[in-house]
Amino acid sequence: MSLLTRPVLRSVLIAVVAAGCTALVMALSANVSERQAEAKTSNFNVVPLTEATVDSAEWGKNFPRQFDGYQRTAERYSTRFGGSGSEGMAVSRLTEDPRLVDIFAGYAFSIDFNQRQGHAYMLDDQRATKRVTERPQPGACLHCHASTTVAYREAGLKQGATGTMADPLQSAPAREQLMKGFEAVGKLPYAEATKLVQHPVSCIDCHDPAGMGLRVTKPGFLVGVAALARSDEPTPHLPSIEKWRKGNRARDYEPNLDASRQELRSMVCGQCHVEYYCGPKMTLTYPWGKGLKVEQIEATWNETKFPDGHRFFDWKHEKTGAEVLKAQHPEFEMWSQGLHARSGVSCADCHMPYVREGAMKVSSHHVRSPLLDVTRSCQTCHRFPEAELLSRVSIIQERTHALMGRAEDALVQLIKAIEAAKKNGLTDEQLGPVFELQRKAQWRLDFVNAENSMGFHASQEAARILAESIDYSRQGELALP
Ligand code: HEC
Ligand code: HEC
Ligand code: HEC
Ligand code: HEC
Ligand code: HEC
Repeated sequence: MSLLTRPVLRSVLIAVVAAGCTALVMALSANVSERQAEAKTSNFNVVPLTEATVDSAEWGKNFPRQFDGYQRTAERYSTRFGGSGSEGMAVSRLTEDPRLVDIFAGYAFSIDFNQRQGHAYMLDDQRATKRVTERPQPGACLHCHASTTVAYREAGLKQGATGTMADPLQSAPAREQLMKGFEAVGKLPYAEATKLVQHPVSCIDCHDPAGMGLRVTKPGFLVGVAALARSDEPTPHLPSIEKWRKGNRARDYEPNLDASRQELRSMVCGQCHVEYYCGPKMTLTYPWGKGLKVEQIEATWNETKFPDGHRFFDWKHEKTGAEVLKAQHPEFEMWSQGLHARSGVSCADCHMPYVREGAMKVSSHHVRSPLLDVTRSCQTCHRFPEAELLSRVSIIQERTHALMGRAEDALVQLIKAIEAAKKNGLTDEQLGPVFELQRKAQWRLDFVNAENSMGFHASQEAARILAESIDYSRQGELALP
């Protein structure tokens, strides 16, 4: 009879399996705690970071993974509507669409206007554009094209602001330095101001060096969002504003104190990806005092007067003489009208998705089109195959693009009709009401064209705005005798 009776065999087997399991569990837990330790020491405190550390390479010594992604914004790419092409030069929007030359006639945008590129290029591209080399521009242009946090504070100290560079940004003296410097640098001629900065947007513009929390540092945004908070416009996608409104309002709305982390994940981008005025006649302004919608911003501009009392306009159209408005990249405003914002989805959710590196989850600092990484940017929330998601984006973008083409045709036809009317002797006075319609049509068309998602950030809103633009252009034609 075999010694290994069934019961014996069974207990031996159980013992072996149990031992195996224990070993496995122990190995796993050792591995896990190793990984946890790795995650904890993910930031190597190699160098001390202060409120004066501008160079992101310094920050990169402590946070090499984020720095690596940040540097990769120099990689060129293109999608159907995004990116700037993979050649040496950014694609020209004017060559792509010659109608824009008529639409922007007489404005600097008609001489040089390219597709945007990655963050690594923002300062070089600004210094090189003919809009800067052939037209006088103010130092205020640098607000969104350079790491300005330290430069502004240093300039503010020179202007007599109190305190030192050691003050944390949120303190009263540091805030005074920042705002005084912002005003002073903004007024300098571009060529002088640009000598005060060396880097494109850097870690310090979005992060607190003590603790790495997210923060907003751009004065234009701080002032603009405080004005938005004082308005009555509902902001369901920014609940901290609605909460502030219910409080005693003893101080202005202050994103760095009031906003949630999820809100800051959009606000750090809203520091620059917004509509603004930046010219010789006024301080850099974000026009949000009545709300973020296209007609609210238009109303804000229409009520704004230049120091000489004249109604606000961006430029006088060369062919018609109408005083018109130019929209600039209103990504934050358009996103605000979309379903994603309404559902609490932030810019960073799509444009800076988490990437796994070993046991670590880091936010991709390689900011770019989410269509290049649908798995991480979209499929974390949407359980559809990649091809299906890409097709949904494509439907939105192609429809927006087609409608925008019609709006451009309508506006160019209005411009030509006004030109003809002028040749027939109609005076500017007689044409006044038609100029207003050109202004409205131009503003709406440009709000969608200058926005960089080709309708994706708020598809219904983009279509609504374009439909209004077409209507105003046609009303203008009908109003001509
Ligand atoms: C739900 C996801 C999502 C959110 C949220 C989102 N975006 Fe986008 N964004 C996209 C998609 C998709 C595109 C189109 C990309 C393309 O055409 O290649 C895009 C395009 C862009 C572009 C042009 C990209 C390029 O490659 O040229 C910019 C700039 C941009 N978004 C900024 C923002 C900002 C700023 C916010 C927040 C205020 C934001 N986005 C919120 C998905 C998102
Ligand atoms: C300091 C201002 C600033 C901030 C803050 C900023 N951007 Fe940008 N962004 C720019 C400028 C300027 C460009 C265009 C640079 C160029 O064309 O040279 C740009 C380009 C882009 C592009 C196009 C990339 C490409 O390779 O074509 C995307 C996408 C983008 N930004 C998204 C974001 C998101 C998302 C955030 C927030 C996490 C953000 N940006 C924060 C100023 C800023
Ligand atoms: C409120 C922030 C902000 C200010 C102020 C600003 N820009 Fe930009 N700029 C951006 C953003 C965001 C982009 C990328 C999105 C785009 O190209 O539409 C950009 C893109 C550009 C580009 C690359 C694409 C192109 O248009 O050819 C140039 C050049 C440029 N800006 C020049 C200027 C000049 C000149 C000024 C001053 C008159 C200025 N910018 C002021 C935010 C700003
Ligand atoms: C345009 C704004 C912006 C800039 C510039 C920026 N970051 Fe970030 N960073 C973010 C956002 C958004 C997050 C996500 C934070 C969150 O969800 O709490 C983040 C997160 C982080 C984190 C936390 C861990 C993680 O990956 O989520 C570290 C560390 C970090 N960034 C380091 C850096 C460094 C280093 C630089 C400069 C090389 C830098 N960041 C530049 C916006 C920025
Ligand atoms: C953090 C979660 C989240 C991420 C990331 C996200 N979405 Fe969404 N998406 C939502 C929610 C929530 C809705 C609203 C749908 C609802 O309420 O049923 C939505 C709606 C949509 C819609 C329909 C509404 C519209 O705007 O037309 C499309 C299309 C869409 N998402 C595509 C995408 C794509 C493409 C990406 C990646 C670039 C993406 N989403 C990333 C959560 C997300």
